Formats: sequence, structure tokens, C-alpha cells
Amino acid sequence: MTERDDPELPAGMFQRIDEGDDAAFYAEPRFVTHIDDATIEALTTFYRERIPAGARLLDLMSSWVSHLPEDVTYASIVGHGMNAPELAANPRLDAWHVQDLNSDPELPWPEGAFDAALIAVSVQYLTRPIDVFAELARLLAPGGQLIISTSHRCFPTKAVWAFRELPPEERVRLIGFLLQRAGGFEALEFVDRSPAAADPLWIVSARRSSDGVRRDL
Ligand SMILES: C[S@@+](CC[C@H](N)C(=O)[O-])C[C@H]1O[C@@H](n2cnc3c(N)ncnc32)[C@H](O)[C@@H]1O
Repeated sequence: MTERDDPELPAGMFQRIDEGDDAAFYAEPRFVTHIDDATIEALTTFYRERIPAGARLLDLMSSWVSHLPEDVTYASIVGHGMNAPELAANPRLDAWHVQDLNSDPELPWPEGAFDAALIAVSVQYLTRPIDVFAELARLLAPGGQLIISTSHRCFPTKAVWAFRELPPEERVRLIGFLLQRAGGFEALEFVDRSPAAADPLWIVSARRSSDGVRRDL
């Protein structure tokens, strides 16, 4: 089931003010950060705690920064995003791939290719999040982690209605609901790692079912 035919999701939840081509919107590189330094540090700390050294990582919806701890070595880090110059400038990526997930949510890697997948402060731009999460369930090895971090800034014209209008706690709950609908995840967790006096950091994490079976969370 996708968001388009799910009776529990109100129509218009994933609509945007600007339904124009995302490739055009992201054509120019933006060498900026999208959350405060203290918030990036909190996210880096979370990654350090949760992702073991030597893991195979997918940084989905990435840019020129991945926020991973600099002193930890991973087996590989594959980046995905919308802007080639940004991804080429990201020093952590071993390989990268440009793809508009709103046009085509199917990704080119084999089943079980990654031990962890990250979506940093970007989930609000997905118009087909269930399809993308189902694809991540396919790509993660059994027991692999999905870490979705969110904050409160966004490009308002490109963020979907739900993430523009719902309060933070409902946005986080919605991510959990969408993961449940996608199937294949367990151990859903919500964590508030917001630093004082900086952009908030609300994280949703889940594990790929250890036996690879798709069931409700
Ligand atoms: C706010 S930036 C965050 C980038 C990076 N994760 C970070 O933490 O700095 C949002 C990112 O979402 C990605 N994105 C937006 N729309 C997308 C789409 N339709 N398909 C795939 N990725 C998209 C772009 O790569 C963009 O860099």
C-alpha cells in the first residue's frame, strides 16, 4: 500500500506548494548547513552511539556534509541526493548517486547492501515516503538501522503539507506510522536530542526486522 491509496492518510498530506520539477529546484549547489552547529554536533553524537565502525552506510538525501563522526571509519559510505557538485564535495562519500525520489523511489543497490541508512533533515521533501521507506527496508541487511533526523527548518514551498502544518510530535508520530505502513522494520524509537538554544533535533530510528520478515511494528 502506498500513501496514494491509504485510507488512513488524509488527501493532500503529501502535497507541496511548489509541485514543479525537483531537479530544477536543486540544480544549483547549496554549500550551506541546514541546522545549527550544536544540532549537528548532537546528531554526530547520536551517529557515534548508534552506528558501529565498519558498517556499510547509505546517506540518503545527502549533500556536501554527512554529519558522521570524523574519527570513525566505516566500511563504505554511499551518498544519494539531488545535486552532483554537493555530493562530489562531500569528503565522507566513497560513491554517490543522484536521483529524484519523488519521481522514482526505486534505488539501484541490491537487497541487504547496507547496515545503516540515514536521512538527515530531509524527510519533509518526500511525497512518496512509504515507497521510499519500503525501498530502504529492502536495502538494509536484517537488523540494519534506519535513522531519520528532523528539525524545524525547511524550504517551505518544497516541504509536504504534513511537515509544514503538523506540530513536531505529530510529525514524528507520522514518520512512525509511515514506517509501519512500509513494513519490514522493528524497534521503532523516538528520541529528542535537541540542544539548548539551538535548532531542535527529533530523531526517529528503527531496525530492519532481524529475520527479514515484514510485520507491523
Ligand atoms: C535540507 S537538505 C539536507 C541535506 C543533508 N542531508 C544535510 O543534512 O545537510 C535536503 C536534501 O534533500 C534532498 N532532496 C530533496 N528533494 C529530493 C527528491 N525529490 N529526491 C531526492 N532527494 C531530495 C536534496 O538532496 C537536499 O540536499
